[in-house]
Amino acid sequence: MATSALIIPYHVAIVMDGNGRWASKRFLPRIAGHKQGVDSLIRCVKACLNRGVSVLSVFAFSSENWNRPPEEVSGLMDLLVIALAKQVANLNADGVRIHFVGNRLELSARVQAALVKAELETVANQRLTFNVCFNYGGRWDIAQAAQKLVSRGEAITELSLDGAMALAHVPDPDLLIRTGSELRISNFMLWQAAYSELHFSDKLWPEFDEAALDEAIAIFSTRERRFGKTSEQVNSHYVAAPVKKPA
Ligand code: IPE
Ligand code: IPE
Ligand code: MG
Repeated sequence: MATSALIIPYHVAIVMDGNGRWASKRFLPRIAGHKQGVDSLIRCVKACLNRGVSVLSVFAFSSENWNRPPEEVSGLMDLLVIALAKQVANLNADGVRIHFVGNRLELSARVQAALVKAELETVANQRLTFNVCFNYGGRWDIAQAAQKLVSRGEAITELSLDGAMALAHVPDPDLLIRTGSELRISNFMLWQAAYSELHFSDKLWPEFDEAALDEAIAIFSTRERRFGKTSEQVNSHYVAAPVKKPA
């Protein structure tokens, strides 16, 4: 690997995939893999805090995951509520601000209440913005943003759509990681990942540890982000983010 300086991505986004396979390999029910996935997520949050990552966004439940067997769906809902009850105090103590991103109106009143409680408890924190994408889909986000603009009678431009997205409170992800060996996006961050650096890990999500995160960051550090420019242009000065065209 090249010996370039380490660049800590400002915003890391992760498709946490492979919980079911982790469980199947051990002859355990799929939900056991999801439970292990929560432990892996907490470890990842701590690792991001220690490394100075400012925003972590994770894909926890997709718009399409409703199509899974009903017992897995209800197990995931229960796990979310239990994990929040167990972990929010620790996350709060660590300065983590939790945001839930997704269509929460489709969730039960019990789950919605748990989300609001976690967000309110951590609202003042600033060390790490932690976006949990739950009942989220990139297509849903683009459609709801367009709908919002239409209902306000506003023109649809790249800039106005960007500002109406459910993820408008953070800049686009610099590094997008998917675990579990699949080479696809599965409806995550369709709009925001336009210029994210992609990293696909063969580790199943419950196995994704600090070393795996460090490896992803080390590889990210070697990438040349050009945002459409030439290599010569970007090497003449540091480019932190794509220049948006005026609306
Ligand atoms: C990702 O793990 C977690 C969710 C989608 C909720 P999976 O459950 O998709 O695990 P695999 O892909 O079946 O191994
Ligand atoms: C993506 O994983 C969604 C989450 C990690 C929450 P999936 O397991 O649902 O993706 P596909 O179905 O393999 O594309
Ligand atoms: Mg999967």
